[in-house]
Amino acid sequence: MKAVLIPGDGIGPEIAKSVEDITKAMNLDIEWITYQAGAEYAAKTKEVFEPGLVDAITEYKWALKGPTATPIGTGFRSVNVALRQKFATYANVRPIRSFKGIDSKYENIDLVMIRENTEDLYKGIEYMINDNMANGIKLITREASEKICRYAFEYAKNNKRHKVTCIHKANIMKFTDGLFLDSFRNVSKDYPDIEAQEVIVDNMCMQLVIRPETFDVLVAPNLYGDIVSDLCAGLVGGLGFAPSGNIGDDYRIYEAVHGSAPDIAGKNIANPSALLLAFALMLEDLGQLDNANHLREALSQVVEEGTYVTPDIGGTSSTTEFTNAIIDRL
Ligand code: NAI
Repeated sequence: MKAVLIPGDGIGPEIAKSVEDITKAMNLDIEWITYQAGAEYAAKTKEVFEPGLVDAITEYKWALKGPTATPIGTGFRSVNVALRQKFATYANVRPIRSFKGIDSKYENIDLVMIRENTEDLYKGIEYMINDNMANGIKLITREASEKICRYAFEYAKNNKRHKVTCIHKANIMKFTDGLFLDSFRNVSKDYPDIEAQEVIVDNMCMQLVIRPETFDVLVAPNLYGDIVSDLCAGLVGGLGFAPSGNIGDDYRIYEAVHGSAPDIAGKNIANPSALLLAFALMLEDLGQLDNANHLREALSQVVEEGTYVTPDIGGTSSTTEFTNAIIDRL
C-alpha cells in the first residue's frame, strides 16, 4: 500500500528518516509518498503545503505526519488545523501506556484519551468587543458530540475495554457541556455492557493523579481533551513517548504529540520514539497488530537497556544509532 509521509519542520525530517529505515528493515508493505509542509516550506515557497499533498491524502487515505510549525506572519494557516478541517478527522485518539525503561511516577497505566477535534472553543469564533473586552464562543453540537461519544464506545467495544468516562463541566456550563453530557448519556444506552461514568473535569484531573489505574477509555470535548491528554502523558513520563491518531470516517493522520524542537534540529539527536509509536498505532489500525507489537517491543527493549538512546532520555547516542539499535532488535 501507499501512504503519505509529511516529515515537517525542525527535527521532523530526522525522525521521519527513522520511520522510513524501520519500514524497510521490517520489510513492511508500505511505500511512503513524501510531501513537504510547514513553516520551512512556507519560507521558501509562500505556501504551507507542497502542491499535491491534499490530493495524495485524498487518494491514499493514511498519513503519518512529523511536527510542523505555523509560519510567522499573517495569512498562513496552521498545517494541523488545515488538515484536521480538510479531512474531517473528528477524533483525536491518544493511547497512554506505561513504557518500560522510562521513569515515571506510575506503572501499568493503560488509558485511551479520545478528544473531540472539530468544535468547542477551538472553532475560532472569537472577537474583540472593544479594546479591553474579548469574547470567544464555545460551540457544541449534538451531532459532533454524539459522533465522538459513539466513537469512544465503539473503541471500547472493539478493544475489549470495560468503561468509558465522560469528562465535562455541565454543572456550570449547563447548555454547552450539558449538551455534550446528554449526548454521552444517549449514546451510552446502546452499549449496556460498557460502564458509562461521568466525571467533572476538575475532579477528573485530581482522580487521574490519585488513582489513574481506575480509568479505561476517556472521552471529552476539545478543550478539556487537549489539557487532560497532556496530564495523561505526564503520568507515563511525558510527551517524548506520546503518539496520537487523528481519525475521520475516511482519513487517518497519525503524529507524535511533541513539536518540531527547533533547539535541537539538524543535530541528529532527536528521539524518534513518539513518531515510531504513532507509526505503530497506524499499523495497529491497519490490522497489523503483530507488526505494531513487534516494533513497540523492539523500541521498548532499546529504551530499557539504555545504551543506544538519545540525550533527552539520558543517553549519548544519535537518532541514527538509536534507530539502528531498534533495527538490530527487530
Ligand atoms: P517542542 O515539543 O518542539 O519542544 C519542547 C522541548 O522538548 C524542547 O526542549 C525540545 O528539544 C524537546 N523535544 C521535543 N521533541 C523531542 C524529541 N523528539 N527528541 C528530543 N527532544 C525533544 O515544543 P515547542 O518548543 O513548544 O514547539 C516548537 C514548535 O513546534 C512550535 O512552532 C510549535 O508550534 C510546533 N508544534 C507542533 C506540533 C505538531 O505539529 N503536532 C505540536 C506541538 C508544537
